[in-house]
Amino acid sequence: MDADMKATGRLAGRVAVVTGAARGIGAAIATKLAHQGAAVMLADRDVGPAQAVAAELSAAGYDATAIATDITDEASVAGLAAAVAARWGRLDILVNNAAILDATPLEELTRPRFRAVQEVNQNGALWTVMSLLDLLKRSGHARVVNIASILGVRGCADSVSYGTAKGGLVNLTRLLAVDLAPHGILVNCICPGFVDTRMALLPDGSGHEHETDWFRDIYIKYGRIPLRRPAEAADIAAATSFFYGDDCRYVTGQVLLVDGGLSATF
Ligand SMILES: NC(=O)c1ccc[n+]([C@@H]2O[C@H](COP(=O)([O-])OP(=O)(O)OC[C@H]3O[C@@H](n4cnc5c(N)ncnc54)[C@H](O)[C@@H]3O)[C@@H](O)[C@H]2O)c1
Repeated sequence: MDADMKATGRLAGRVAVVTGAARGIGAAIATKLAHQGAAVMLADRDVGPAQAVAAELSAAGYDATAIATDITDEASVAGLAAAVAARWGRLDILVNNAAILDATPLEELTRPRFRAVQEVNQNGALWTVMSLLDLLKRSGHARVVNIASILGVRGCADSVSYGTAKGGLVNLTRLLAVDLAPHGILVNCICPGFVDTRMALLPDGSGHEHETDWFRDIYIKYGRIPLRRPAEAADIAAATSFFYGDDCRYVTGQVLLVDGGLSATF
């Protein structure tokens, strides 16, 4: 991309925050935002890799920086808001992407573990919005995109804590869309299906779920995923860019499944 495109991207002058931007889907979304001309704050509790992504973008001439943020920690998220206000004095786009995976079998699920997953995957998004709300209100055309999961609208084994939190995030999207509409803030939700990221590594460390025989048979060979491949992080970033961009004018409180057609089959 040449210097002219950097200066005249469709999001030039906009400021964006992406949580969980150190890697995977969040890094892909932050990179796309930068390429589209937005200034980007990459917020992640794992700040080292987030700084590496930001440094790469900065070296290429984009306005990107990283900050250590734990979305479950009130002071930490307040620090994120203060840093955005100090650096740019505005915020136009928030992508709530940070989350943790939990595949604890039902019989082994404990209250502390269940609570911890809700705290990151559902409540973290709410309190990040709340902390950044004054800035978002001032934008006049702010966009919030929540990255939930197909497990927020469908069931699957060993997913009670993760799926409950993601289901909550799906409806939180609608509730925030209603409450924030008077401020011109549009709130929408992306539900990815299977995505090729670290989160899809098998818990026993034996590899990637997409490389297993069961995945290749059921989802690819027999076409349970009609597009016959897992998503790349860039596929999720591409769909997200509709919701944070200016073409999203009269759409709010909506949920888009980005799953290669998985949810269209039975
Ligand atoms: N990979 C998939 O197959 C898949 C499928 C559906 C939905 N998703 C969702 O997409 C989003 C991104 O997932 P990914 O696959 O890129 O995962 P990932 O594990 O590669 O990245 C998640 C990032 O979130 C950060 N994070 C976790 N807890 C945090 C906290 N408390 N505060 C700040 N940062 C925190 C992690 O450090 C990490 O960098 C998540 O919301 C996930 O639930 C992923």
